[in-house]
Amino acid sequence: MQLTGVLARILFIQCLITTCLGFGFLAPVGVALGGIAASAICRFKECCSEHSIHADFDGLEDALKKHIYGQHLVLDIVTNALRSHWADNHKPQKALTLSFHGWPGSGKNYVTKFIVENMYKYGSKSKFVHHFIGRMHFSSENKVKEYQENLQEWIKGNTTNCGKQLFIFDEVDKMPSRVLNIIKPMIDYRDDVDGVDYRDCVFIFLSNTGADLINEHVLEMWKEDGVKREDLKLQDFEMLITRGAFNEEGGFHHSDTIRSNLIDHYVPFLPMERRHVKLCILDEFAQRNVTNPSEEHVNEAMAFVEWGPSTEKLFSTTGCKRISSKVGMIVTQYKLNKPGG
Ligand SMILES: *[C@@H]1O[C@H](CO)[C@@H](O)[C@H](O)[C@H]1NC(C)=O
Ligand SMILES: *[C@@H]1O[C@H](CO)[C@@H](O)[C@H](O)[C@H]1NC(C)=O
Repeated sequence: MQLTGVLARILFIQCLITTCLGFGFLAPVGVALGGIAASAICRFKECCSEHSIHADFDGLEDALKKHIYGQHLVLDIVTNALRSHWADNHKPQKALTLSFHGWPGSGKNYVTKFIVENMYKYGSKSKFVHHFIGRMHFSSENKVKEYQENLQEWIKGNTTNCGKQLFIFDEVDKMPSRVLNIIKPMIDYRDDVDGVDYRDCVFIFLSNTGADLINEHVLEMWKEDGVKREDLKLQDFEMLITRGAFNEEGGFHHSDTIRSNLIDHYVPFLPMERRHVKLCILDEFAQRNVTNPSEEHVNEAMAFVEWGPSTEKLFSTTGCKRISSKVGMIVTQYKLNKPGG
């Protein structure tokens, strides 16, 4: 009798231990296996998780600091806005909307490229990144309805699959106005639009709209002694840009989006001065492994740049846009990146 009692107790304890062991070991093993399986799958296939959407904001910050010149406001706004939008500890109230404004070549596309590369492992090839170009994708005034239907379907379809989508609209000023009105509900303060949650999405709009106003303002400040470019504040520009965006032709013309304040940040790209263009040139040489180009070769690249406005000739009218191909040509022509060249 006593023996069976002892046996039963031993059995009971053993069961307890196995169960504990079972829970103690198997649960983490299960989680780990799941994690390994996911990361294995996500190594070959793009996933809607941090495996493929790595959101490397430190990397973005470094890249912008290193390659973007003369745009202190851009550096201030862009990384911080994105970082806080996807912060782990809070759900955004609405999709993030950034509107980039400035002359061609002031770096709008360049900054966008770094955003794409640092947020998504597959960069511009990511299925979560969508790049629309005004003149290419929305060229006809007669097709506004069709464009709107497509856009709505695509944004909805993609966001249903994965919330962290990036939609880039380039050349907004070349789009028929009204097309963009269709996205208004998706970027508004709502947690649910027909069963879809758009709040993790990011929308970036690029245009030349307001650029003349930006440049005039920088010029005025330059003429006034004592105001340094680096002292210019975002508030100095936001009003100028919204007014420009509202009144000039194009995608935001008399737009609902602007009218209802759904753009979170207007980001002014300032016109590039000689010293900034020179940095672009040096960067382009460096990217071709020419670390110490001669003054003569730098000047040769500089000679292709056109300057405005007509009297002051202070700003590059094309920013750093054609610098890359010009430097490439100079490097090839003089064989600058060959050993001993
Ligand atoms: C996602 O967006 C792309 C355009 O970038 C579109 O071609 C595709 O059909 C969309 N997918 C869904 C499921 O709507
Ligand atoms: C620059 O140099 C690195 C290392 O020496 C090399 O891997 C790379 O291909 C070079 N790039 C160009 C553009 O020559």
